[in-house]
Amino acid sequence: MELCRVAIAGFGAVGRSTAGLLLDRRARYRDVYGVEVRLVAVCASRAGLVDPAGLEPERFDDLEPGLSGPDVIEASGADVLIEAGPSDHRTGRPGLAYLERALSGGRDAIVISKGALARDGARLRALARRSAATIKVSGAAGAALPTVDLLDHNLLGSEVLGVEGVLNATTNYLLDAMMARGVGFEAALREAQAGGFAESDPRDDVEGWDTARKLVILAGFGLGAELSISDLEVRGIQSVTEEQIAGWRSDGLVPKLVGRLWRDEAGAFRGGVGVDAYPLTDPLARLPGKTKAIRVTTDGMGEIVAIGCGAEPLATASAALKDFEHILAARAGRLRPA
Ligand code: HSE
Repeated sequence: MELCRVAIAGFGAVGRSTAGLLLDRRARYRDVYGVEVRLVAVCASRAGLVDPAGLEPERFDDLEPGLSGPDVIEASGADVLIEAGPSDHRTGRPGLAYLERALSGGRDAIVISKGALARDGARLRALARRSAATIKVSGAAGAALPTVDLLDHNLLGSEVLGVEGVLNATTNYLLDAMMARGVGFEAALREAQAGGFAESDPRDDVEGWDTARKLVILAGFGLGAELSISDLEVRGIQSVTEEQIAGWRSDGLVPKLVGRLWRDEAGAFRGGVGVDAYPLTDPLARLPGKTKAIRVTTDGMGEIVAIGCGAEPLATASAALKDFEHILAARAGRLRPA
């Protein structure tokens, strides 16, 4: 039976959830794709080669002095890297170092953290092409909400005219709590943090940067549109006032933080992030709690709306392992290569 060795970089809540799910699904990978999947390395603040059946940090082998995380991945002989660690959006590190090493060595990469992709997505795609490797990013662009796959697979052949995405669960949760439940901003933010979906620095969510990163990633990976964060006008929800909330409520409108892509006169995609208010009849108005959504306008297929509410680590891990199955399916000749 064909062997597929997997390494994971980053072992926080999402990395752990991904590792656990991957191990639980080994029988499925054998039955459906005829592939024996082994978890061969985990790299985090501690890193090492792991027993394929084990996930306990104390079972990690001691590293040779001087080996970096990317060295460990290489030494493990992994065929696929799942990058689930932090990656700073200014430097892309440390995720970028793992991705560069894996892709340049011809390993496929599944990316969950956003910083390296938002900063260097075009370069990473080019690196993957040169090495005949695959890079998949569902976990970084809405996770359980299909965004890149929707644009790249489901609308293949249609021209995308525009995209509107409520891509950040935290701001949707905050606006919904203030509008529908009358909860104050700070209390709602504490609820989102307790739910585990607010960023460690919630300004990333509140000021629109998380939405902007996801928009740049889905533009690049889903539409081949090379945008960078500095091309976008980004406005968050930080300056939404009680008076605005009351005004929207009395007008029957529902505010959302939306990332938008549209085409300029030359046909090139432009983008921005800001608050829009929708009438109750609009599907984007009906997104309670941590729900996210994307609306795509096309030439031939009309408007497509997808709605999803999984924002917790299991949902993100499931999205990353959907990418993994696309890779297994492509290897087994069951789908076009991603
Ligand atoms: N902080 C993000 C959100 C979590 O609220 O959507 C995952 O990207």
